[in-house]
Amino acid sequence: MAFRAVKGMNDILPDEVQRWQQVEAVFRETVRLYGYSEVRTPIVEPTSLFVRSIGENTDVVDKEMYTFERHDDSLTLRPEGTAGAVRAYVERTVYAKEPVSRWYYLGPMFRAERPQRGRYRQFYQAGCEVYGDKGPNSDAEMISMLVGFFHQLGIDGLEVMINSLGGTDTRKRYHEALKEYFRPHAESLSAHAQGRLEVNPLRILDSKDPKDQEISRGAPSILNVMDAPDREHFEALCSNLQALGTPFRIDGRLVRGLDYYTRTLFEISSTAGELGTQNALVGGGRYDNLVHELGGPQVPAIGFALGIERLLLAIAQQPVSASPVCFFAPLGNPAAQRSLILARDLRQQGFVAEVDGRGGSLKSLLRRADAIGARCAVVIGDSELANDSAILKDLTRHTQESVTLSALSDAIRKLLTESNTLSPGELI
Ligand code: HAM
Repeated sequence: MAFRAVKGMNDILPDEVQRWQQVEAVFRETVRLYGYSEVRTPIVEPTSLFVRSIGENTDVVDKEMYTFERHDDSLTLRPEGTAGAVRAYVERTVYAKEPVSRWYYLGPMFRAERPQRGRYRQFYQAGCEVYGDKGPNSDAEMISMLVGFFHQLGIDGLEVMINSLGGTDTRKRYHEALKEYFRPHAESLSAHAQGRLEVNPLRILDSKDPKDQEISRGAPSILNVMDAPDREHFEALCSNLQALGTPFRIDGRLVRGLDYYTRTLFEISSTAGELGTQNALVGGGRYDNLVHELGGPQVPAIGFALGIERLLLAIAQQPVSASPVCFFAPLGNPAAQRSLILARDLRQQGFVAEVDGRGGSLKSLLRRADAIGARCAVVIGDSELANDSAILKDLTRHTQESVTLSALSDAIRKLLTESNTLSPGELI
C-alpha cells in the first residue's frame, strides 16, 4: 500500500532544503546583528494557552487548530509561535533577569486551513519577539530590519502596511464605533460576521467574505478615535520609518486575525516571484498586555513572524548557488581507499567531496559526476597510483591535467574557489 503525506503538509527533499537553509542562514545573521538570540519552545502546548492568547472568535482558534486529548489534557499543535514564547518567558521568569529580551525562532506551525499556493497546514515561520521595550523606536527598527532582510534576498515589489489598534481605552471606543457602524448593515453581513458583531466586531474587518469586505470599506478608521498617547506612539513610529527611509502605507482598517495585538500592527506583502493571492510575507505587531494576561507582570512586547514557504515563492526566479563539489572517481579498490583519505582531507579544509561508491567504467563514473553538478573530478587508476598521481578534470572548462598526489589538494582548492563558485561557508 502506498502512503501519501497528509494534505497540506509537504516533504522538503534535499535539493529544496538547500534553499531553505540559505534563507534561514540570512535570517539568523540579520537578526543576530540586531541582538536577537534563538529560543526553542515545544511544538505542542496546552490548548487553553492559544484560546487565551489568540482569542476565542478568531478563525485560528475556532476552526484551524489541531487539538487532541492525551492523559486528560487537551493539547494543540502550535498554530503560531508567539503564545508559546510568552508562556516560556513568563514560566521561566525571564523578566526578572533582564530588562529587555530579544528572541527569535524558526520552526513548523500548524493550521487546518484550506491548502493552496502559499497556504499550507504545516508551514514554517521565522519570527522575532522583543519583551520589555515599549516602543515606538523598536517598532520602526523591527519593520526596517525586515525590509532590509527582504532586499538582501533580492525580493522587491514590497508593500509595508501599518496601523495602530491603540491601547485598551482606544480599542474599547473603536469596538463601540464599529458596532454602531455595522448594526444597521447586520442583515447584509455573512452569518459568521453577524455572530461576531456584538462580541468582537474587529474580526468583521478581517473577514474574507466579499459581502463583509464591501460593507467594511465604509467602516470608521481607528485612527479617528485614538487617544493622545496612542496617537503620539503611532506618529513617532511613522516619523522613525521615514527617518530610516522605509516606505510604508497606513491602512486604518488593518486588524490582523489574532486578538492579542495592541497599538502597532504591520503586514508586509510582495508581488515578487511566484506568490499568488497569499502574498503576505510577514505579519506582526505589538502586544503590550499579553505577558500580563498570561500570568506575568505588565511587560510590553512586539514581534512578527514570516512564512518561509512564501519567502521562497517570492524568490523563486532566482538561482541559488550551491557549494562546488569535488567528485572522486577511483578505478579499483586501492584507488578507492586512497580516494577516501584524499576526500576526508579535503572536507577538513571545508570543501564538499563525494567518493563514488558504485564503481563501473570511467565513462559511467564521469556521467555521475556530471549528474550531481560536480565542479571537478579526480580520477585515480592503477597507473596513476603507481606514480603517485591523479588526473584532475575541470568539468566546467572540460580540461584535465595530471597532478602529483602531494599537490592535489592545493590544485583542487584552487579550482573550487575560483570565481563563479562560492567558497566554503559563504552564503547566497
Ligand atoms: P500571522 O499573520 O498569522 O502572524 O502569520 C505570519 C505569517 O506566517 C504570514 O504572514 C504568512 O507569511 C505565514 N503564514 C501564516 N499562515 C500560513 C499558512 N497556512 N501557510 C503558509 N504560511 C502561513 C502570526 O503568526 C503572529 N504570531 C506573528 C507575530 C509574532 N505577532 C507578534 N509576534
